[in-house]
Formats: sequence, structure tokens, C-alpha cells
Amino acid sequence: MKLPYAEPYKTKMVEYIKPSTKKQRKNWIKKAHYNLFNLESDKVFIDLLTDSGTGAMSDKQWAEMMLGDESYAGSRSYLKLKKVVKKITGFKYFLPTHQGRAAENVLFSVLVKEGDIVPGNSHFDTTKGHIEFRKAVACDCTIDEAFDPSVHHPFKGNIDPDKLEDVFKNHPKEKVPMVIITATCNSAGGQPVSLKNIEEISTLCKHYEVPLYFDGARFAENAYFIKIREEKYKDWSIKEIVREMFSHADGMTMSAKKDGLVNMGGFIALNDQDIYKKATVYNIMFEGFLTYGGLNGRDMGALAVGLDEATEFDYLETRVEQVAFLGKQLVDYGVPVIQPFGGHAIFLDANKFVPTIPRDEYRAQALAVELYIAGGIRGVEIGTILADRDPFTHKNRYPDLELVRLAIPRRTYSLNHMRYIAAVIKKIYDSRDKAKRGYQIVDEAPIMRHFTVKLKKLKN
Ligand SMILES: Cc1ncc(COP(=O)(O)O)c(C=O)c1O
Repeated sequence: MKLPYAEPYKTKMVEYIKPSTKKQRKNWIKKAHYNLFNLESDKVFIDLLTDSGTGAMSDKQWAEMMLGDESYAGSRSYLKLKKVVKKITGFKYFLPTHQGRAAENVLFSVLVKEGDIVPGNSHFDTTKGHIEFRKAVACDCTIDEAFDPSVHHPFKGNIDPDKLEDVFKNHPKEKVPMVIITATCNSAGGQPVSLKNIEEISTLCKHYEVPLYFDGARFAENAYFIKIREEKYKDWSIKEIVREMFSHADGMTMSAKKDGLVNMGGFIALNDQDIYKKATVYNIMFEGFLTYGGLNGRDMGALAVGLDEATEFDYLETRVEQVAFLGKQLVDYGVPVIQPFGGHAIFLDANKFVPTIPRDEYRAQALAVELYIAGGIRGVEIGTILADRDPFTHKNRYPDLELVRLAIPRRTYSLNHMRYIAAVIKKIYDSRDKAKRGYQIVDEAPIMRHFTVKLKKLKN
């Protein structure tokens, strides 16, 4: 019999979370205008809004915080981090930044200019934002299977080489400053990219002389999927797989709030000395001196330890399998979820869950609100509200999928929390026929409306 996995850590400190009554939550969410972003965290029992910066640090990371060297230039903490980044990624040069989007801002200031095209696999929002801010275009070359929830594919984050080659053939080399592989691919639901695909894309990039970069926010989770799903790498250590992944690229941007196992941080790592030199200028302008880049010395120390811990198999098995545990429970209850499960989140399929609520009444948002009222669980809508309005017609954009994302923070909740979440969802699912009406927008910002939107509940 295969033994179940067990967490390779035990609890040393606890943070109490506050249970509340359904009546209280109904009142709080009404006051928050039915927008989960407006809720105070103390009014949430289990917070699955994001896995970014919400994880728990280890005792070794906290110990390293005490050793933080806060010197402006050349601190010991910086040197520790630099050494670990080199060891884990293999890239020659490194610049700390305060988070992932800051790394994008600095690197793209060097590489991306007006009229450029930047191909990749469903760029993350901030990546796309930084590209479009420079009046360039982010071109999505993800494989078609990624967009069909009924298709089971082990690596739905893969880039389609034919789509990428079309971009290379149809644009002069000078207009394509880089290709970005996001691993795992957050926008495609935390789906991984295979090493076979990375190799293939790298060969194509070399042929067309276009640099290849990683958005590595969840690179370790990606390496775990490679180990368990790609036969050739089953006996490799995670650290070996990570080195192999990055050996095919020219550099990376990193949001350390995910697989760096810290609450704040980021970096750029790359091989080209000339690009590094140019990037240092922007880093100093936007982030701070190049040996701290917006981070405290103690944060850099904690990140150095976090990167090492995040690339251990036992940790990753617990992490990814905990997410899958929740997914499997939901599947057993018959609840419609996107499969295969992502590395950091489970997605409820609201089109199948509550088809009775009209689309123009924001059914995924209605489901997310119901989840909060029923069990104090905060997820997030990935649907029509997030998709915003068409900038020209000002009509709602209706994406193919209406989802509620349940992002699981790292090393934070137990399997019992997962059981609780699944049970709450099952209860809602069992009475889904009663859900007939959703919400109406009463106030919204011109862009990124989901953060501040105000909603009114519609009555039967
Ligand atoms: C894939 C990916 N890239 C970049 C970012 C941006 O990182 P940050 O939030 O640290 O700015 C995120 C954040 O969620 C992400 O998921």
C-alpha cells in the first residue's frame, strides 16, 4: 500500500482565525458591497484570495531574519541571496526587486519598446500590463488544449511552437525583444510547462535569435510536475530539474511571494552582462541600490532560505498534493472543477455550477459571495467582472469560462481546512437549484474594476 504523504513540518506557532456566524457574514458582505476585496481579513475564516505573499515562513527563515544585515551597500544578506540564486537558477547576474512586477518593470525598461511584440504562454496580468504600458503587444501562444476544460493534458501551460514560429516569421527580429515562459502558467490555471516544450521553444528562439526569459513565480511547482509527469525526469532531484529548466533560458523575472516562500520580494536573474548593466540603472531608479532593490536585508536572508526550501521534493509534494486533495474531494462530491488541477489553486466552474444565474448577473461572483456567506471562505471571481468592459463598445466582455479561484497559501492551512472547504462547497452545490439571481454593478472603475466594484444583490 502506498502511504499517504504527510507534511514534512510541524507547527511551532499558531495564528488564530476567527469563526463567525452566517448572519454576521451576510451583514459584512452587504456592507462590503458584495466585493470580497472590501472585506477586512478578520472577517474571513479561510482566506483563499491569493497564494501570493500569504504563506508561512519556516523557523530557519525567521532565524535568518534576525541575522539580517541592513547595510545600504554590499550587505551579507544580499551576498547570501546572490549565492543561492546562482546555485538554484544557474544565471550569472542577479538584481533584487521588491516584488515580481517590479522585476518586470526594470527588465522591460531595458528590453521592450513601442511597437514590439512579446510572445508567451498567457502572460500574467502585470506582465501584460508592463508590456502594454510600453505600447507593445503581448501575444498569447499557449497550446489550444489549455482553453478547453474538458481536455486532459499534463502540460496545459505549454507554448505551441507553430504559433510562436508564425510570430517569428511575421515580424522582423528587432520587433521581438523576448519570449516569456510563465511557469507554472497562472493565467491558464497554474498549469505546468514540460521540459520537452521548454527545450523545443529554446531551440526555436535560438534559431530566430530571440532571447528566452522565464516568469518564474512558481518555477518550483512547475519542476515538481515535470518530475511526476515527464518520465525522463522521474529520478532527477527538483534542484536538478530547476537547473535544467533555466539552462535553456537567458534570464528570468521572479515574484518571490510564491516559490520564494516569503511575504514580499522579487528579483531578476540573467546571463547577458550588457542587459544586466542597463538594468542596474533602472533598478537604482525604481527600486533602490543594486544590493537591496527595495528589500530589507532580513527579507533577502529569508528569501535565500526560502528558495532552498521551496526546491525540496517533500515540501513540494505536500504543497501540490494538498491542492489536489481539495480538488479530488470536490470531484468526489460531483462539483464541477477545472482539471487537471493547477499547482496553486482549484477553480470552480461556475457555468456548470450555477447555470441558473444569468451571465449578465455575474454568476461566478454570485458563487464566490455564497461561498463566503456559507462558510467564511474568501475566493475570487475570474469571470466577467474581471474581464472588464470592451474599451470601445463599453459592453461587458464575457470570457469562455466563469470561474471562482480558490488559491491555497503555502504551508498555512491543514487537510482539515481542505475538508471543511470541500464540505461547504458541497452544501452549496446540493442546493444550487435555488440560485436564480445574481448581482448588478452600481459603481465601477474604468479599468481593473474587480478590485473596487460595488454590487447590488438582485431579488427573485
Ligand atoms: C505568474 C506571475 N507573474 C508575476 C506576478 C507579479 O508578481 P507580484 O505580485 O510579486 O508583483 C504574479 C503575481 O501573482 C504571477 O502570478
